[in-house]
Amino acid sequence: MEKQTQKQKQATMSGQYRYQQLEHWLRQGITEQRWRAGERLPSIRTLCQERGLSKATVQHALQRLEAQGLLEARPKAGYFVAAKPALVPAPSGLASGGGETQAAVEPPRLVNVSDLLLDIMRRSAAFDLLPGPNGDDLPPGILALNRCVGRALRRQRGADYQYYDDPAGDGSLREQIALHNARRGWPVQPNQLCITSGCQHALFLALMATCQPGDVVAVESPGFYGVLQLLQQLELRVVEVPTSVATGMDMDALADVLKRWDVRACVVSPAFATPGGALMPMAARQRLLDLAQQHNLAIIEDDIYADTAHSTAPDPLKALDADNRVILCSSFSKSLSRDLRLGWVSGARWHGRIQHLKLVTQLASSRFLQQGVAAFMADGSYGAHLRRQRQQLRTNRDQLLAQLHRWPGPVRASVPEGGLAVWVELPGHVDTLAAYPLGLEQGVVITPGPLFSVSGQFSHCLRISFAHGWDAKRMAALAQLASVLNL
Ligand SMILES: Cc1ncc(COP(=O)(O)O)c(C=O)c1O
Repeated sequence: MEKQTQKQKQATMSGQYRYQQLEHWLRQGITEQRWRAGERLPSIRTLCQERGLSKATVQHALQRLEAQGLLEARPKAGYFVAAKPALVPAPSGLASGGGETQAAVEPPRLVNVSDLLLDIMRRSAAFDLLPGPNGDDLPPGILALNRCVGRALRRQRGADYQYYDDPAGDGSLREQIALHNARRGWPVQPNQLCITSGCQHALFLALMATCQPGDVVAVESPGFYGVLQLLQQLELRVVEVPTSVATGMDMDALADVLKRWDVRACVVSPAFATPGGALMPMAARQRLLDLAQQHNLAIIEDDIYADTAHSTAPDPLKALDADNRVILCSSFSKSLSRDLRLGWVSGARWHGRIQHLKLVTQLASSRFLQQGVAAFMADGSYGAHLRRQRQQLRTNRDQLLAQLHRWPGPVRASVPEGGLAVWVELPGHVDTLAAYPLGLEQGVVITPGPLFSVSGQFSHCLRISFAHGWDAKRMAALAQLASVLNL
């Protein structure tokens, strides 16, 4: 027989654990408006004293309510009754200008990603200046995640290993993802979600479901190189729409593109687009949806960076999708772990087809992995992880910007309110593609600007990530980078 755990010892005569009783009492208080939206709950210490509970029990209950979207934790201030999160205001632009977009749009063309670019993509996907993997300490969130996944694996029932999971994915994980998104203002139902093997897989399914070879797809420029690879694979033609690294895709330019060519789908990242971390303002989002309806476009929303918001995660574009034509794709790769290979897609009017394509391309996802992540979310550990990570990312970003301000010459950098990287514009003579092999020789991996386009633009630009802490080794690599670029 299993040993009695501490948790089980806490179970009371009513069959409920103490944390469950507290959770119930607090939930009731919120429902009855004893505490109203935005109001602070009694402190952890007060709850411990007044209800005779341990700090761990109180924290557990609060974290669970947070995971259910009823509470919001504010660092050093306590827990507050959640109000619907607002859209974070758009950043004002690059640190010293540069939020402008390029004017010329080239006609649609097939994509041919060169071997050099493929090599750079392979190395730079790690978002690290140092060739990885590096032995950074595991953050507490990942340790907790590993415990949840381990527990789910140990609980596997005898026959599970002989059966595929539901192609749509594990119900408990879809439920948690739905709850998490409902808090952001997108009331999605679990049956509107399909679990995928990461966001790249979700984007692949979305493009396959909406396009035929030869169709034209509008993308951000600069934009995510992974989408360009997908377009090449699916023999789709790309049209690059000028995109500000502060406010996202230029809607006037898109309107013009749609007048000139028959575009089938548009891939956008309204929340903290790579490479510069742009946040699309509300007016642009509304215009995008209007244009989509007018021209019968499928919108493929890449939402992967939303949970890296440095303050509140913005509502997804999908939340405004009255016409059922926005396919939302996302994953845990940027907010939690790339190694999970777990993502999701909500396919709007194409959902049935997308679910079928998931079956065709992957059959099913790993059940115990999904259940482990679902437990991690239900427990409030995901929320706690995001809070810690937010602070860390803000610090990392500020340290990077402080260093970039010391670089000589006219250097401009985006100031993102989310995401993992800044976009840096260097003096026009700098060739970041030529600097790439020089950097590798000196142990510095750079992500040159031309990677983010098919038209050879942005050779004087590069993306620098702040996903990792600026320890002495990375600081040295950053200094080395300035010399590799011959600044
Ligand atoms: C914008 C964007 N979308 C999708 C992906 C792929 O994500 P995943 O690792 O979940 O497949 C990435 C990874 O770099 C990305 O930056």
